[in-house]
Amino acid sequence: MITTTGLTKVYRSGDREVTALDGVDLHVREGEVYGVLGQSGAGKSTLIRCLNLLERPTSGTVTVAGTDLTALAGRKERANAALRAARSHIGMVFQHFNLLSSRTVQDNVELPLEILKVDRRERARKALELLDLVGLADKAKAYPAQLSGGQKQRVGIARALAGDPKVLLSDEATSALDPETTRSILQLLRDLNQQLGLTIVLITHEMDVVKTICDSAALMKGGRVIESGTVSERLATPGSELARELFPVGGEPSGDGRTVVDITFHGAAATRPVISELSRTYNVDISILGAAMDTVGGKQIGRMRIELPGPFEENVVPIGFLREQGLQVDVAEAADVADAAPAGATAPATTLRKDAAK
Ligand SMILES: Nc1ncnc2c1ncn2[C@@H]1O[C@H](COP(=O)(O)OP(=O)(O)O)[C@@H](O)[C@H]1O
Ligand SMILES: [Mg+2]
Repeated sequence: MITTTGLTKVYRSGDREVTALDGVDLHVREGEVYGVLGQSGAGKSTLIRCLNLLERPTSGTVTVAGTDLTALAGRKERANAALRAARSHIGMVFQHFNLLSSRTVQDNVELPLEILKVDRRERARKALELLDLVGLADKAKAYPAQLSGGQKQRVGIARALAGDPKVLLSDEATSALDPETTRSILQLLRDLNQQLGLTIVLITHEMDVVKTICDSAALMKGGRVIESGTVSERLATPGSELARELFPVGGEPSGDGRTVVDITFHGAAATRPVISELSRTYNVDISILGAAMDTVGGKQIGRMRIELPGPFEENVVPIGFLREQGLQVDVAEAADVADAAPAGATAPATTLRKDAAK
């Protein structure tokens, strides 16, 4: 549904240059909820603004629903009209709602339809239908100042849907909202995704958002996508940085000469008492250094960092046992567990023993 190839954006101001996007190849399938993650400054907002050509890429291509937007973005009037038409199939939701305070809720939703020159009666019909869809049928005549943050964002979503988009782009749509309101907005986005078959790309720095509603995700760093894929596939990939971001299981070893193991549970293995079986079978004492459990796409997934007494060489058999149970097992190098890598380093904070991977 959305494909970018070699997308690059360089901002120039005076003699300063900032490479905000550095060759991004993104592929979002139709009907997916796709999360874009990364720290502040990673290039997430620039990427999403390039997807509808609000920002003109320096190089590379953007194709949405089969239309190459970058090819349309000429300087001629006709090209601009074609771009506007293509863009009307892409809705956008903003962190700070961007509602016009002088207009009623209904008039805010009608705004894009006015621009598309839809007649008055049809505009009103559509706006009321959309307000009903987002649960605000009774607020049509209210003004933005009379609404809560969550209600304002619902108006923002209704407005984004006015042009019957195939794609909805959302830049930190829930960052200004409290946790409970965030959950209800996420639920709304999930419902719209399922009811309307809407493809959604959302930027977030909240891992919970990804775990709750995303089918796939990309992790950005320094203008590049350093990892992407379906959430469940990433979680099942040894050494995945995305998985570590989603399930941060910190925990320092209690001393030298011990083996630290990160275990990811999913599927049937998530509900079996493997740790106590391990302890009983091999008569080892196991310390749990950190753990996180959650439901992803309706399935239980968890990560746990445990410590076994003795160096790796003495724990080959118990680690093999864990692998045989269908668990994903990453053995951390002792030196790396102490989080030696400085923040922002490109190397993963915990490198994994290649020799131990199967
Ligand atoms: N309009 C702009 N002019 C100059 N630099 C910009 C502009 N917008 C963003 N940047 C720079 O591009 C980089 C990526 O920014 P942004 O896409 O906003 O990241 P994110 O949304 O991940 O925080 C940052 O270094 C930022 O300072
Ligand atoms: Mg941003």
